[in-house]
Amino acid sequence: MVTRRLPGPVEEQAAREFDARLNADDHPFSATELADALRTADALLPTVTDRLTAQVLGAEPLKARIIANYGVGFNHIDTGAAKARGLVVTNTPDVLTDDTADDAMLLMLMVARRAGEGERQVRAGAWTGWGPTHMLGTRVSGKTLGLIGLGRIGRAVAHRARHGFGMRVIFHDPYPPAPAVVAELGAEPRASVDEVLREADFVSLHSPATPETRHLMDARRLGLMKRGAFLINNARGDIVDEAALVAALKRGTIAGAGLDVFEREPAVSPELLQMEHVVLLPHLGSATHESRVAMGLRALDNLKTFFAGAPPRDRVA
Ligand code: DGY
Repeated sequence: MVTRRLPGPVEEQAAREFDARLNADDHPFSATELADALRTADALLPTVTDRLTAQVLGAEPLKARIIANYGVGFNHIDTGAAKARGLVVTNTPDVLTDDTADDAMLLMLMVARRAGEGERQVRAGAWTGWGPTHMLGTRVSGKTLGLIGLGRIGRAVAHRARHGFGMRVIFHDPYPPAPAVVAELGAEPRASVDEVLREADFVSLHSPATPETRHLMDARRLGLMKRGAFLINNARGDIVDEAALVAALKRGTIAGAGLDVFEREPAVSPELLQMEHVVLLPHLGSATHESRVAMGLRALDNLKTFFAGAPPRDRVA
C-alpha cells in the first residue's frame, strides 16, 4: 500500500514488481485508512503526512510486516510501537542530502538578501527602480554559520558554506562524526548548542525530531542568538517553539528566519505570514524530480531486500 502519489517512474516500478495499491487521488490517509492498510497489505509505503501512532499501529489483525517510509525523517512513526508489533521500519537516507542542503542555503540567502520581500515588491508593481539604499540585506559570504547537528545533511551544508561562501563553520552534535571527517570539513566543534548560538551569524538546524530535540530552540535559546543573526530550519518544525520564535522576531532580538518546516504544518503561525523578515517555504527540502524519484526507488529497494529475506539497507527500527 503506497499512501500518496509518487513520481511516475516510482509508481511504475512499484506496479511492475509488487501487487501495488496506489493512491490515485493523492488524498492524505486518515487514521482509519492507515489501520486498514496495516490489516490488508504486507507492506506500507507511507510518507511524512501519515501519522503512524501507537493507536494506528495497534491495528488487529496485523498483516503488514514492514513500513518502508518514503523520506529520511521518520518522527511521524512511533518506532517503539512498530517494534513492539514486530514491524520493521526503513527510511530513505543519502539520496536527498544534496537537495536538502541546497534548500538550507536557499533559505539562508533568501532571508539575508531579502529575496522574498524583493520578489513581492516587483510582483506588486511597487518597485520604483534601483537605488543605493534600496532593500539592503546582510552579506552571507565570510560569516559564521552555526550548525546544530552534523549528520549527512549538516555536513553537506557545511561543505557548501565553507567552499561556496567562505563561511566559518561551527557546530554542536552530541553524536559527532569521526574527527577526520570534521577536520576535512574544516568545521569547529562547540561543547554545547548554547555556545553555537552565542557565536553564529546564521544558525541552521539539522537534527532529527526526537523527544530530546522537541522545542530545542525555545525562548531561552532564541534569546542567546545574536541580534543580527538568522535562524534557518529545514529539519522538522517541532525542533523550534514557533510561538517563541514569533515573539523573538517581533521583538527584533534576532534578524530573521528562513523556514521550510513548521510546528503544525501545513498550518503556519498567522503572525509569520505578516512578517517581511521571514522566508516561508512549503517543506521543499527534497522536492526535486531527482530526489523524489531516488527516494521512491530506495524505498522499493528496501522492500525487495526485506521480502527476499535479507536485512533491508535502511532499517531504522
Ligand atoms: C524527509 O525526507 O524527511 C522529508 O522531510 C520528507 O519527509
